[in-house]
Amino acid sequence: MLDMARLDVVETFHGLFFPGHLHTQDSLQLALKFPFQDTDIIIVSYPKSGTTWMQEIVTLISSRGDPHVSRSVPNWARAPWLEHHYFAALLEASPTTPRVITTHLPHHLLGPTLQGSKAKVIYVSRNPKDVVVSFYHFHKIAKFLPEAGSFSEFLNRFLKGTLHYGCWFDHIEGWTRQKATMNNLLHISYEEMSMDIQGAIKRVSSYLQIPLMEDEVNNCVKHCSFSSMKDNKMANYTLVTEEIMDHKKGFFMRKGIGDWKNMFTEELNQYFNSVLESKMVDSTLEFTWDEQ
Ligand code: A3P
Repeated sequence: MLDMARLDVVETFHGLFFPGHLHTQDSLQLALKFPFQDTDIIIVSYPKSGTTWMQEIVTLISSRGDPHVSRSVPNWARAPWLEHHYFAALLEASPTTPRVITTHLPHHLLGPTLQGSKAKVIYVSRNPKDVVVSFYHFHKIAKFLPEAGSFSEFLNRFLKGTLHYGCWFDHIEGWTRQKATMNNLLHISYEEMSMDIQGAIKRVSSYLQIPLMEDEVNNCVKHCSFSSMKDNKMANYTLVTEEIMDHKKGFFMRKGIGDWKNMFTEELNQYFNSVLESKMVDSTLEFTWDEQ
């Protein structure tokens, strides 16, 4: 289904870059015209923010903590990416009810499509310092992404918003600004999930109106833990062939929380903080991550 001849192709769409073996102009255009159903669940995130974790959580909540689906169907088939060129085929074959759809598209592109829809959006965010470190390591294993270069170069590209999938600041601002006006958007952070996964699962299940018994919540907690997902080939991306991901260079399920402290020098940290402050000056977002 993947177009290997397009592994090096960069698809440019509305000024943003996307990997060409997953995206085409047609697939991106179709994403913006997709007829969402009110029962749809849409997981939205900037890459490396905890997307796969939320896919696992939503799958488990939908199956009341039973890991059968999450352990037998790859995450990209049970919660397919809206903008990928094989989306329609996967969605049709998806075993998940209600439908679970994933996207990395920014709000300025997808927002108009969702206007008036009652589909339930779950926006997952993460400390941008951990996002950039995770994305940097992912560039080293993902053969469909450009060379990462040095970490400081990569960090500059992240801050300028020139990496694939666009600018983190625009992404988080665009989606979370909708929270005030949309009843159907739940914003949850990676850090919140790390600090209190039980509470996070209850929050998501209540938002999705799938009330769970305590033992069902506990089963969700067990099967979406870092160690359980690292072992689950339906979630850890080891099913992806070597032509696409160089598994010798690292793991998708890498470290989890707080690794930025091992990559940022004091100077990079100050620089990052100053850009963050200036870009988010008008933001009402309250970040939940630990800066200690
Ligand atoms: P690291 O590279 O920092 O380890 P995404 O799914 O959006 O691409 O995000 C991937 C990041 O989420 C990776 O971060 C991965 O390890 C982390 N992740 C995935 N499942 C997780 C879980 N159950 N607990 C904690 N972190 C998880």
